[in-house]
Amino acid sequence: MAGRIPRSFIDDLLARVDIVDVIASYVSLRKAGRNHQALCPFHDEKTPSFTVSQEKQFYHCFGCGANGTVISFVMEYNGLGFPEAVEDLAARYNLEVPREAGRQPDSGRNNELYELLGQAAQFYRGQLQGSAGRATAYLKKRGISGAVIKDYEIGYAPQGWKNLVNSLGKSAAVKARLEDAGLIRPGSTEGHYDFFRDRIMFPIRDQRGRIIGFGGRVLGDDTPKYLNSPDSPLFHKGRELYGLYQVLQKKKKPERLYIVEGYMDVVALAQFGIDNAVATLGTAATEYHLEKLFRVTSQIVFCFDGDEAGNKAAWRALEITVPQLREGRQALFSFMPEGDDPDSFVRRHGAERFLSDENTVPLSDFLLDHIKSGTGTTTRENRAMFLDRIRPHLAKMPGSGLRQLLLEEVAEIAQLDTDSVLKLLQDSRPDTARRLSMTRPRQQREKTGDISVIIAYILNKPELAMLVEEPGELTGLSVPGIEFLTQLVTLVHTNPEMTCAGILEHWRDSRYEQRLNELASAPVVPEEESFDVEHEFIARIEKLKTARARQSVDKIIRSKKPSELTDEEKEEFDRYTEEIRNK
Ligand code: UTP
Ligand code: MN
Repeated sequence: MAGRIPRSFIDDLLARVDIVDVIASYVSLRKAGRNHQALCPFHDEKTPSFTVSQEKQFYHCFGCGANGTVISFVMEYNGLGFPEAVEDLAARYNLEVPREAGRQPDSGRNNELYELLGQAAQFYRGQLQGSAGRATAYLKKRGISGAVIKDYEIGYAPQGWKNLVNSLGKSAAVKARLEDAGLIRPGSTEGHYDFFRDRIMFPIRDQRGRIIGFGGRVLGDDTPKYLNSPDSPLFHKGRELYGLYQVLQKKKKPERLYIVEGYMDVVALAQFGIDNAVATLGTAATEYHLEKLFRVTSQIVFCFDGDEAGNKAAWRALEITVPQLREGRQALFSFMPEGDDPDSFVRRHGAERFLSDENTVPLSDFLLDHIKSGTGTTTRENRAMFLDRIRPHLAKMPGSGLRQLLLEEVAEIAQLDTDSVLKLLQDSRPDTARRLSMTRPRQQREKTGDISVIIAYILNKPELAMLVEEPGELTGLSVPGIEFLTQLVTLVHTNPEMTCAGILEHWRDSRYEQRLNELASAPVVPEEESFDVEHEFIARIEKLKTARARQSVDKIIRSKKPSELTDEEKEEFDRYTEEIRNK
């Protein structure tokens, strides 16, 4: 993995790139007032609700809520990660992306590791072809076709302790690298030995096609049944998905992706023509997995066993999926009949039945049914418990048509009206990423709201921040969001050219990211000429300063008798009292 991209480069890149040009190279944009419009590329629609602001260097879809900077757009549209999207944009302008030297090994060394992992895969493949014996027989017994063996590059790690070491480990340096890659281990007496022995080998490629690790299955009943390459800087089991590379080779944006549990499931489904399945690597699905998948598809189907364990795993998957269900994204759950996994199911019943969705339910059904069956809904007490259990899930779900429909249904089940359910929800909003939210405790709500509006103004027109003469003058006011506002003002002061996009990039991947994007999309500055945003902004800042003065005076009065005040405190007291009097 290469080092971090320096922040200064992101600023430079944003200064050169125009979001309108970039988006226009993907979709057809039409000028409409101050902005440009298009049919949203992220959801199906007939009338355009996708808007690009040149001034803000920001896009926003009123239909599905997709929004972000030009980098976000390239990421979303092409299913790329942040560094890849930056590379892509830089390439358009012939810019070289610099990298900070970091803790991670440099890319030259990583390239050698990838190279070595590729050689190992080739070695294992050769061993399968070479061994007319057990490995081939095993694959045959499992019904795996030659075509699939080829597509998925399935191989065989032979019996014995030193096949790979002897074949690839020509020097001490190479051995050290094979060890880094997790393919060999240092022995206590006889030198290095092979990590994978007498196993069917499934090479795992990342999205860019580089081999990053392996899964190996025993031929018999030994344990562990599967061994996976250990995690390394190149390989994170909680982030990678087996088969995703092969799926994307066939289609860049599949309509639907199946998430299954095992290597064998992926290859069996592929053999039956279902070439849109991926597997986690012996871990439960994670947020990283979902982010990756939702970048390339809008519909994912989790496949689980029909037993108790499968049901539990499905519920865990639901919990991490709910917060990612933006408009246009769908998740479904498919339960295999007891005793089957997708591999055995498709072999027994065929592809058509697998694809028929007969045991597949949408996430919202699973959510409602699961909770209803736990609490019942007949008595008032049942319904109260039902509400209590479903509340946190609804609170985590992003605003969307689905959320609205669910709210209405929950209200109906609880025998309440939708507004009452909404009110209950507001008290259980998760507070991560919502630090600036307007749904804070009541007495603070008004003030926090003010700060959100101020931040939204700055996002709409960063130069407003220059009207705050001294960023530090706001600190100390105990209102949620004030520290953030100070940071924001300081950022613009140090870089007065900064656009809305620059600000958003500055806080990418932080807990403020989501809220900032919401505020950047908020229509706080009306189009009318008569609206004087500068005036509004200054008035709100003045109000904050007064509040700050008042708080300081209160604090001084409360903490000490007048006779005990230091000179400094007296001076502060006088200054603030004066300030308040002048209002
Ligand atoms: P399963 O036990 O369901 O195996 O484990 P499977 O995929 O159906 O394999 P076959 O059909 O018996 O050959 C599902 C997944 O869990 C991980 C592997 O990724 C496996 O594909 N696993 C399982 C391990 O990592 N280690 C194990 O020992 C077992
Ligand atoms: Mn199986």
